[in-house]
Amino acid sequence: MNDYRPVPEDRFTFGLWTVGWRGVNTFGDPVRPPLDGAEAVRRLADLGAYGVTFHDDDLVPPGTSPDGREAILDRFRRALDDTGLKVPMVTTNLFTHPVFRDGGFTSNSRDVRRYAIRKVARNIDLAVSFGATTYVCWGGQDGAESEAGKDQAAALDRLREAFDILCGYVRDQGYDLRFAIEPKPNEPRGDVLLPTVGHALAFIRELEHPEMVGVNPEVGHEQMAGLNFAHGVAQALWAGKLFHIDLNGQRGVKYDQDLRFGAGDLKEAFFLVDLLERAGYEGPRHFDFKPPRTEDMSGVWESAAACMRNYLILRERAAAFRADPEVVEALAAARVPELSRSTLGGDETLADLMAEEIDLAAVGERGYHFERLDQLALEHLMGVR
Ligand code: GCO
Ligand code: MN
Ligand code: MN
Repeated sequence: MNDYRPVPEDRFTFGLWTVGWRGVNTFGDPVRPPLDGAEAVRRLADLGAYGVTFHDDDLVPPGTSPDGREAILDRFRRALDDTGLKVPMVTTNLFTHPVFRDGGFTSNSRDVRRYAIRKVARNIDLAVSFGATTYVCWGGQDGAESEAGKDQAAALDRLREAFDILCGYVRDQGYDLRFAIEPKPNEPRGDVLLPTVGHALAFIRELEHPEMVGVNPEVGHEQMAGLNFAHGVAQALWAGKLFHIDLNGQRGVKYDQDLRFGAGDLKEAFFLVDLLERAGYEGPRHFDFKPPRTEDMSGVWESAAACMRNYLILRERAAAFRADPEVVEALAAARVPELSRSTLGGDETLADLMAEEIDLAAVGERGYHFERLDQLALEHLMGVR
């Protein structure tokens, strides 16, 4: 029997800020002690993870002296060498410090925008030194509460300018690094710039180097807007833009819960894993969750292990669903394969289509049997098939 034990080949990664989250929230103080980066690396490796990711400030706290910084980096590098854990992605904190209260790349303050670009460019050098090939950009505080206070078109111009500058920097340095934009509809701002996967995909097309920029969709962020996450990811894959992914859990349209993967909308998690595995997505399966404040450190490691375990269980359930002969037959009855046939034949023209008749009465009576198919999926998910 499968014991669902993760191995590095599964490509599971965690942000330092996830297991290291101290559980501070709007109403409550931190509940857990700080977690040392090197210690996080060792614990994650023991659990079977492939890699670890971080914001600049997660690893080297702001205000650290140059010597202190070197000592921290050495310690972290040693832990990576000892465990074999990789750093496939790095990101920047453009949200915690008060200067970012109106955002980073799109702050109304030009000096803040210039500082934000400097902070990212410096951290790109560090990311590359750790072997990262993806650089995630989550706007954080880029957004607004007031329409009057933010010129959206100007904000988009500045955002494009920042990406054009940073892509130019990566090209000039000859780095093997791509950017992944992480959309989010709201929180911490009332409305965040580039709120959904679709907005981000449209924005990327306006850049000087669109080939260097993709998306990093997060389960809960699309679901916070009531959107179907699997559909958003399918469109990102279709556009060739799924450069990275943040896996977690969310229950409905409310604040960003960042639950462990599998908690929240389990059925959408099932279809997401089905999609990623069938599409041959080769990037890291990155968990961006926040162990709830109720947990002590043992609960933190429990929930981290559960993220990976849930992915592996869902991967097995999804494969069983696809292999079930009754499902294959139900898919055909639902005409799912027919949608992959082009609407015009190879040698046909619009004139052929125009000359055709349809029996509206008969075709209008056609049922699609999606309920049967969906029930088969649920039964595989629930483990009774
Ligand atoms: C959130 C975000 C963040 C970002 C991360 C990368 O929960 O709103 O997911 O966790 O992913 O900060 O910059
Ligand atoms: Mn989130
Ligand atoms: Mn995220």
